[in-house]
Amino acid sequence: MIKIKNLDDLLENNLKGKTVYLRADLNLPTINGKVTDTTRIKSILPTIRELKKNKCKIVILSHFGRPKGSYNKKMSLKHIIPKVEKVTRSKIYFSKDHSGINFQKLIKKIPDGSVVVMENTRFHKGEEKNFKYFAKDLAKNCDFFVNDAFSVAHRSHASVTGLTNYVPSFSGRSLEKEVITVSKFLSSKNKKKLAIIGGAKISTKINLINNLLKNVNAIVIGGAMANTFLLAQGKKIGKSLSEKTMIKTAKKIMSNASRKKCKIILPVDAVVASNLKKGGKFSEYNIDNIPDDGLILDIGKNSISIIDDEISKTKEVLWCGPLGLFEQSPFHVGTASVAKTLSKMTKNGKIVSVAGGGDTVAAISQSNYVNDFTYISTAGGAFLEMIAGQKLPGIEVLKK
Ligand code: 3PG
Repeated sequence: MIKIKNLDDLLENNLKGKTVYLRADLNLPTINGKVTDTTRIKSILPTIRELKKNKCKIVILSHFGRPKGSYNKKMSLKHIIPKVEKVTRSKIYFSKDHSGINFQKLIKKIPDGSVVVMENTRFHKGEEKNFKYFAKDLAKNCDFFVNDAFSVAHRSHASVTGLTNYVPSFSGRSLEKEVITVSKFLSSKNKKKLAIIGGAKISTKINLINNLLKNVNAIVIGGAMANTFLLAQGKKIGKSLSEKTMIKTAKKIMSNASRKKCKIILPVDAVVASNLKKGGKFSEYNIDNIPDDGLILDIGKNSISIIDDEISKTKEVLWCGPLGLFEQSPFHVGTASVAKTLSKMTKNGKIVSVAGGGDTVAAISQSNYVNDFTYISTAGGAFLEMIAGQKLPGIEVLKK
């Protein structure tokens, strides 16, 4: 298990009147400038509450979008201040300036326990390039640093790793929980562990699957990714999406799996349409009878019951990636039914369920099971890299 410095370590210090920088992920999903989901603000509330109680001044650092080192009005964090005020139920100050005289005056003026949001860190060239001068400049007015943004832990940026070279640094409650949950799943010696991996491409998940082969006893593979595995088994997939260049890799994964005694479970049937038109015709086929002009868009009923059966035999499940074209009805059924089984089994105390990755979280929210899982990660890339067994720079710098 990974051990990182946490808020308890920070609270050994007297924080009254001190300035604590809190790295959050306020890169909130928006549609036409309107915030559509506030999960990432909610995730930092426990940390904010503890810091406020200890009467320090909290300065939130975050990025928004990918402005590539220059100012972009549409990506200003100013737009999301009302949402942060609503969710945190407190006044939020905003600072355009990250270290100059105006910023210093603001920090001096505000009462202990106040919260400031600093403008998008990625407006500065030094942020993503992790330039020393920028990290030092950020650290200039800061007494302690807390990182509560697991979703950027895979980025070696100034506000994630650079700053930690100049100020005592700790993890916030949300980041700590994410790291503990994922590393507990990976390191648990439980013999009944299952991973459900979906999504379009093997190429983005090779390391993850290879690492899971060592850690779980069965892996369900779904989504368009499964098509490449089916090709590797010599099956026909019609016109379905696949990665022909990855067939060799799929074969290698399957032979590694059998050496490591990890069962690979592929779809045995599929929902197939001849095009992607909404309201178009679709039918279920056995996986050995996919028509030449067919597109596999979801797993079929028999595959769903095999997965349900597999879940019923397991104790811990990690889920990452949808099993079909879940955004388009009726091809959401496979993904939604797996979400339902996992939520039911978790609520009944039969399994521990951990899920993550942008599409998986969207699929779970679509089916309204968000509160039923043991843990849902707020991260996309960082979650995948951690499961892949990679070292995340933002976590490495917080290790005890
Ligand atoms: C995310 O939305 O996954 C995080 O905010 C990271 O964003 P990035 O991929 O632009 O670093």
